[in-house]
Amino acid sequence: MEKDIARVVVDEKQIKDKLIELSKTLINDYQNKEWTIIAVLNGSLVFLADLIRLIPFSVRLDTIDASSYGDSTISKGEVNIIHNFKIDIEGKHVLVIDDIIDTGNTLKKVLADIKKYSPASLKSCVLLNRSGRRQSKIKPDYCCFNVGDDFVVGYGLDYNNKYRNLPYVAVLNDECYRRNCP
Ligand code: IMP
Ligand code: MG
Repeated sequence: MEKDIARVVVDEKQIKDKLIELSKTLINDYQNKEWTIIAVLNGSLVFLADLIRLIPFSVRLDTIDASSYGDSTISKGEVNIIHNFKIDIEGKHVLVIDDIIDTGNTLKKVLADIKKYSPASLKSCVLLNRSGRRQSKIKPDYCCFNVGDDFVVGYGLDYNNKYRNLPYVAVLNDECYRRNCP
């Protein structure tokens, strides 16, 4: 994978430090509450796994599947949501976790879908924020890093379902996107 990387955007140390800071904020905001995290699959999984292990009290967990990109680097605009919640979120304090907010269409649709289940509160938390292409008026409640317009991979984020297991966030070589990364 290393040979495909053009540059690292957020390195491992920056992620580690930021997650400690974020966990302290979340601990303060959610302690003594019935807290439920809903992770947007699949991109948020690495972020989620590292974050929840910094939380010293019990947190309920479920997932939601939202897809819009397919094998492209440009959002198709429409978002497909698939969920099959195994836990009851009515009256619970729900935090949606995603890897990145770009156009905002995914988070907007996910939040609207979850809202129907009457949570006590509903907030969102993203690892990355790309504000330059926003289409939906939406601002995440918690955000770790701002990124530029380049498509990024790693730390859960994929291109063609690859590179999720890179421990940092990076931009791929142009050539790699062109040849569709075989
Ligand atoms: P939005 O609906 O345009 O805000 O896009 C959100 C979703 O698109 C995220 O949950 C990611 O799965 C995916 N996405 C957006 N930008 C990137 C990127 O730079 N790399 C990988 N996935 C991305
Ligand atoms: Mg996603």
